[in-house]
Amino acid sequence: MKIKVLSLFPEILEAYFSASIMKRAVAKGLVSYELVDIRDYAYDRHRKCDDEVFGGGAGMLMKPEPLDRALEAAGSPALRTIYVTPSGRLFNQAMAADFAREENLVILCGRYEGIDQRIIDTRVTDEVSIGDYVLSSGEVAAMVVVDAVYRLIPGVISGESLAEESFSSGLLEYPQYTRPEEYATMHVPEVLVSGNHAAIARWRLKASLVKTLAYRPELLHTIDLSSELGRLLKEVIDGGGENEPRTADSGGTGADRPARI
Ligand code: ADE
Repeated sequence: MKIKVLSLFPEILEAYFSASIMKRAVAKGLVSYELVDIRDYAYDRHRKCDDEVFGGGAGMLMKPEPLDRALEAAGSPALRTIYVTPSGRLFNQAMAADFAREENLVILCGRYEGIDQRIIDTRVTDEVSIGDYVLSSGEVAAMVVVDAVYRLIPGVISGESLAEESFSSGLLEYPQYTRPEEYATMHVPEVLVSGNHAAIARWRLKASLVKTLAYRPELLHTIDLSSELGRLLKEVIDGGGENEPRTADSGGTGADRPARI
């Protein structure tokens, strides 16, 4: 996949693209990237990229001309072009998977109060928000989108890791433990050291349901209550037995951890 990111501050993004798993993906040829300085496409000698808002209002808007030229050069809108903005569609794992199927992605980072609507109308294919809060820089949101997307490209990370993580099954991931088996008087749930793979799988599924019910109940609305998963959910709601997952035992989430079930 080739990723082009257009920004007024490309240096913010450079560190991200040249470290860790992304660095390895680039070295393997799975990802290539280009960071475009929008100011290089400004007309005047001051390289002005913003202006006041017609109709009044606080702050400045990014001007259409430099953006139009930069996006034209990047191949938009023929290539999938994402504008990261708090007024976009809420980003999720399904959108990340959809973007990961593209050969090319163009990502536009906004600054100030946003960008001229005519650029959105003519060059942008997807307006994407990463959450219901406002960031001071689109670069941070662009990194979130790139990170969620490129790791889904085959070969970047192991398929097993992807299959097991939160959201891949529509549920939050179950609690996990490593050695030592007893730490500060806290024990790893017995079933996880039993070697009984069927019992472990059942415990994990139920633990995922416990956690999802506590933190993200809206994710459970599509579960068919007459299905196997639905029956398990009913068991979770009705209360578990001796060896059932109790998320509070997993520690880590502090005062707002899910209630014991
Ligand atoms: N830019 C500023 N805030 C943002 C958000 N929540 N999502 C995407 N881009 C943004």
